[in-house]
Amino acid sequence: MSEKGEREIVRGLRDVAAAETSISYVDPKGSLYYLGYNIDDLVGNIIYAEVAYLLIHKKLPNQRELDTFNAELISEMKLPEAVIESIRATPKRCHPMDVLRTEVSRLGEYDLDANDRSKEADLKRATRIIAQVPTIVATLHRSRMDEPTPSPREDFSFAKNFLYMFKGTPPSNEETDVLHRLLILHADHGFNASTFAARVTASTNSDMYSAVTSAIGTLRGPLHGGASEKVMDMLDDIGQEEHVEEYVQGLLDNRKKVMGFGHRVYLAEDPRTKHLRGMVEKLCHRKRTMDLYRKCIKIEGIVHERKGIYPNLDFYAAVTMDALGVPKEFFTPFFTTSRVSGWVAHTMEQYEDAVLLRPSSKYVGTFGSTFVPIDKR
Ligand code: ACO
Repeated sequence: MSEKGEREIVRGLRDVAAAETSISYVDPKGSLYYLGYNIDDLVGNIIYAEVAYLLIHKKLPNQRELDTFNAELISEMKLPEAVIESIRATPKRCHPMDVLRTEVSRLGEYDLDANDRSKEADLKRATRIIAQVPTIVATLHRSRMDEPTPSPREDFSFAKNFLYMFKGTPPSNEETDVLHRLLILHADHGFNASTFAARVTASTNSDMYSAVTSAIGTLRGPLHGGASEKVMDMLDDIGQEEHVEEYVQGLLDNRKKVMGFGHRVYLAEDPRTKHLRGMVEKLCHRKRTMDLYRKCIKIEGIVHERKGIYPNLDFYAAVTMDALGVPKEFFTPFFTTSRVSGWVAHTMEQYEDAVLLRPSSKYVGTFGSTFVPIDKR
């Protein structure tokens, strides 16, 4: 409150700490930690299931725990028949994020333990949701191709199964490695908008499906996870490498945002970018699409020179997913398949905090309006 008793607003809640968390730390100077582990030490050294386990169990698994968790995830990938039918019935004009949002909500209808809100039941539920979200994404993609979705294989890791089910053929070792890295980098990121949305829903003591559904709707927006699809639109629009300068200058001169750039927290480069940039360079080299890589580097240079900002996660993630053969409308669903592990971890942490997240507002409307009955208006 100000001295006059007026509420001060913090526009966009910039720098407001809304709760404590021990799940991840976004260091503005350019580092990211999951449960105290610098992501630079995790990427390339562990698989995605280990990170999902780390986030929800708050410790890294040993080999036995990882094997059990991976098997549990694979067995939980199966969707209720009604959800499969519903996915297949969605009109092709619907964005995959619309379908994902609705079907995650529908999964809640088939949770036989819905009334058990114990920690153990929540942990089981969290594992099941982490497992089922990729199956929804894969089933939707396959059904839009008029192709069946293969069943997961017990000899594949959970992440490899996702790509297998999405593409319909077993992924190569290189593709699997890229996917593990991509999913690890997307798994959690402090109080980003979608995680905050999940926590607000959880703070009312609502169920985990509702929290994840809120988060999906929030991630979808182009200022958040929806940016990666827009990045690909931009790269497609630019066309040849020689058009980059004119295109990007045009955006900046018209005070338009360059998608995949800027960040609310980082003052330095997003620590995830270097991992993705390196992968994109290798993938483009292998696929002989180095012109695409050069286009990205050129955009990065111009935006940094003119605005002093850096690419965020979505910029190179878009090109990485494109190289994996993911259609651009499935970029944000891919992001969701990993971030869901962060959302469920934060949902459980919020249940423990047991406080309603309910800010106030500064009223700027009028008082003293005279009521007029409808027939006199
Ligand atoms: N392109 C051009 N200029 C930008 C961009 C951008 N992408 N991002 C920020 N700026 C500029 C703003 O115009 C502003 O400049 P000014 O001071 O000259 O007016 C300054 O940088 C500060 O920008 P804000 O919009 O105030 O930054 P904010 O913290 O509110 O927004 C956000 C962060 C939403 C990520 C923003 O950078 C943006 O819209 N980026 C594009 C969308 C995007 O890539 N989103 C993905 C984010 S990462 C993720 O969700 C996984």
